[in-house]
Amino acid sequence: MEELNYNNPSLIIESANLKPGKVVWRSPSNIAIVKYWGKHGVQLPRNPSVSFTLASSITDTLIEYQPKETPSNEVELELYFHSERKEDFETKVKKYFASLIDIFPFIKQMSFVIRTGNSFPHSAGIASSASAMSALALGLCSIEDELFGGFENDAAFDKKASYLARLGSGSACRSIFPTMSVWGKTSHVEGSSDLYGIGIGDMVHENFKDFHDDILIVSGEEKSVSSTAGHALMEGNPFAEPRYNQARTNMGKVIAAIKAGDLETFGKITEEEALSLHAMMMNSNYLLMRPNSLKIIELVREYRRETNHPIYFTLDAGPNIHLLYPENIMPEVRVFVDEQLAPLCVDNYFIGDWVGEGPEQQ
Ligand code: PMV
Repeated sequence: MEELNYNNPSLIIESANLKPGKVVWRSPSNIAIVKYWGKHGVQLPRNPSVSFTLASSITDTLIEYQPKETPSNEVELELYFHSERKEDFETKVKKYFASLIDIFPFIKQMSFVIRTGNSFPHSAGIASSASAMSALALGLCSIEDELFGGFENDAAFDKKASYLARLGSGSACRSIFPTMSVWGKTSHVEGSSDLYGIGIGDMVHENFKDFHDDILIVSGEEKSVSSTAGHALMEGNPFAEPRYNQARTNMGKVIAAIKAGDLETFGKITEEEALSLHAMMMNSNYLLMRPNSLKIIELVREYRRETNHPIYFTLDAGPNIHLLYPENIMPEVRVFVDEQLAPLCVDNYFIGDWVGEGPEQQ
């Protein structure tokens, strides 16, 4: 595997130059087409994955930093989520920062206050780890840039941010880039790596560039199996190897479809991947879809048969349905969603999202 060592003992600030500062990033969530499910080593994927970067499901994160009175090995950090101290997330972020001390030794010299919030309501049951962890990773890279400079170019900045985001939450490494991203070594995409995501926007056919993702909120409950536990379950799953091979093969097919603008193949693989992910979970005795998830899937397939419209579903490791379709059929699709699908959602709620431009520094 590729060698990449970001450990850098020289990223220490001379005490005379220790000044308070702040950085702010807005980073999006992403929705996988070929799913990452199963990992090894330090957050390394068992198979490659590809995703759309979203636009409206985002996390805003402000990191304020100031010099500690006396440097110590302890991470000093307070975290506020929608203005309220959030201790479980704070503990997670502290651990994350502690794990990055060899890469950013300046973490030991500072105390941090993090203020963060999501565009989507907590009750939507949407995992925010991709947007949250990518925003933090970008923030840390910006602090490095402000204090030490030294990034060769934007690509070097994004690569490091993606590498760091991966250490926080695997799928977060794909949120760094506009349009679509690939994470995991695959012969079908040059430059792909298990260590970081890469943007593939330049190879995406026009047919996919204005895709919508309506996220249908079937249940607002917390996930019954965390993704950490879910990845771990793959280790004892008798179908794990065939699943990884299926994902590797699907990468080849879907990348070809994405380049050619082949909506039908794209849709077939997208749905197969979602159902395969859930089949893996069923093999581990978890049933994450709800009756309304299945009703929606049936209605989408029926609507597609009747209209011939390129409209496809996918799911994360939960019950909510992501409805993917191009912009040109949006007015008609929204009538279908409002009339037939929204009534199957919690309080008729869905989030209208679409393919986005990637993170922004504020
Ligand atoms: O990044 P994690 O560890 O939360 O895993 C996410 C896994 C899926 O969302 C189910 C699939 C994916 O590729 O995003």
